[in-house]
Amino acid sequence: MTIRRAVAMSLFFLTSLTSHQLNAQQAKIMDADLERGKRIYRSVGYCGNCHGWPGDGRTGRLLQAPEAPSLRESELDTETLIEVVKCGIPGTAMPYHGRTAYLDGSCYGGMELSDFEQGTAPPLGKTFGDSDVFNVVAYLEAYVIGRKEPTIEECTEFFGNPNARACKRLK
Ligand code: HEC
Repeated sequence: MTIRRAVAMSLFFLTSLTSHQLNAQQAKIMDADLERGKRIYRSVGYCGNCHGWPGDGRTGRLLQAPEAPSLRESELDTETLIEVVKCGIPGTAMPYHGRTAYLDGSCYGGMELSDFEQGTAPPLGKTFGDSDVFNVVAYLEAYVIGRKEPTIEECTEFFGNPNARACKRLK
């Protein structure tokens, strides 16, 4: 990450969450449905089109999709992951996925889409509700962030099929 991007991101992430809200977020992550989170990743949000099915930023991604970083190497904390998935990352190709993003006052300190300068609003992705934002973030924390190279076991688990075509290359 460039320094300029790091500064820009930390400015965007300067939101005013109270510790009460933070605890409520942690509780929702702990209650999250990981299977559902995987489904959101795989076939609702289509995160893998850009990040690859294992979230490594490479494997199985769509070649024509915007380049996206490895989520395996992400160092973001839970509340930032929630905000990024729900609200996207302004000025980049990372779309917003929250059904109520920029409508409910929760994105980047109450930003609305009309507040962005031309061309800097995050693109609209496939949307889902807040509980699925928690589910997919919990899935990332449980199965993606901190993992090393994707394995054949992870692949067959992800596709639910030991003969999945996408896993042949890993054998
Ligand atoms: C259209 C392509 C695209 C799709 C679809 C997409 N992303 Fe991203 N994502 C990106 C790009 C590009 C970035 C990097 C933006 C930047 O330059 O900081 C990113 C960044 C992220 C980050 C921040 C990683 C970090 O450590 O900085 C997270 C977390 C993330 N995406 C999760 C998701 C999830 C979960 C989904 C599906 C619900 C998803 N993305 C769908 C393109 C995409």
